Amino acid sequence: MTSALPPFEIHLRASAERTEQLLSTLLGDVSLDDEITRPGHLIAAMRYGTLNGGKRLRPFLVQESAALFDGSPTAAARIGAALECLHSYSLIHDDLPAMDDDDLRRGKPTVHKAFNEATAILAGDSLLTYAFDIIGAPETVLEDDRKVQVMLALARAAGIGGMAGGQALDLAAETTVPDEKGIVTLQAMKTGALLRFACEMGPVIAGASHEDRKRMRRFGEIIGLAFQIADDVLDITSDAETMGKATGKDAGRGKATLVGLHGLDWAERRLDQLVSEAVATLSPYGEKAATLIATARYVANRTH
Ligand code: IPE
Ligand code: IPE
Ligand code: MG
Ligand code: MG
Ligand code: MG
Repeated sequence: MTSALPPFEIHLRASAERTEQLLSTLLGDVSLDDEITRPGHLIAAMRYGTLNGGKRLRPFLVQESAALFDGSPTAAARIGAALECLHSYSLIHDDLPAMDDDDLRRGKPTVHKAFNEATAILAGDSLLTYAFDIIGAPETVLEDDRKVQVMLALARAAGIGGMAGGQALDLAAETTVPDEKGIVTLQAMKTGALLRFACEMGPVIAGASHEDRKRMRRFGEIIGLAFQIADDVLDITSDAETMGKATGKDAGRGKATLVGLHGLDWAERRLDQLVSEAVATLSPYGEKAATLIATARYVANRTH
């Protein structure tokens, strides 16, 4: 029951519901100007792979980081929704037989299982492209120079030097085991880059100082590290019903993870350290950063 949840989780859920509604509107079946048509089965697959109960943590981080600097909440909501489209694409492709080969995502059959592989690939392609459309569209009201900064940052976070590059390193690591530094790099790319983008965009949306952007970038890096360590812990300690995705996969596929290298006790200590670093990073903002600090704790201690 929602009333039994801690206040932070109630806040996160309320934000997730708003994100869900915005995504549902954005992923409608009526074509936009200059789109020729929206093929029914493709938009259905995009909706299936996006409107399916994700935690919506990345949009939440964009909104909360914007709020910290009094940036436009409506611009933040659209940029958060764009990021969630891009994240959902990364999950659809991550689950493909050629990648992690998973049948379950967010508690339901993966997109390639519910539709077919070609449709899953194209739904991912379309969600990736659509993320940039959502930001570029006039409905995202933001000064042009800030919009360009957001788009460039998203391209860098998603592409060869970010998420997609990290996924390539992750798959290569199934055959050639990297050292610790290699694992940290691949995780900072495959998972950290999008989370860092989410945290860093608040100051950009608000036109805050370079110092603020740097600080939020660091906070995002810490959240990114903690997020993947927690994901790798849960892959060992949790179950498919709780997670909505298969568990026990990393060891099975020979995935290189820090938890695999150092063990669960180490992971617990490292997560505590990362939360302390997150708190220290945001200390200049005092009480105003309380929600973001609660988010860092949530990321480190999450149960799903
Ligand atoms: C899962 O991300 C993929 C990783 C980067 C580890 P989330 O745990 O945020 O997945 P959803 O969006 O809530 O389903
Ligand atoms: C996925 O990492 C990172 C992405 C870019 C999607 P994982 O492969 O560990 O994510 P899960 O465990 O399948 O969600
Ligand atoms: Mg993967
Ligand atoms: Mg996976
Ligand atoms: Mg995982």
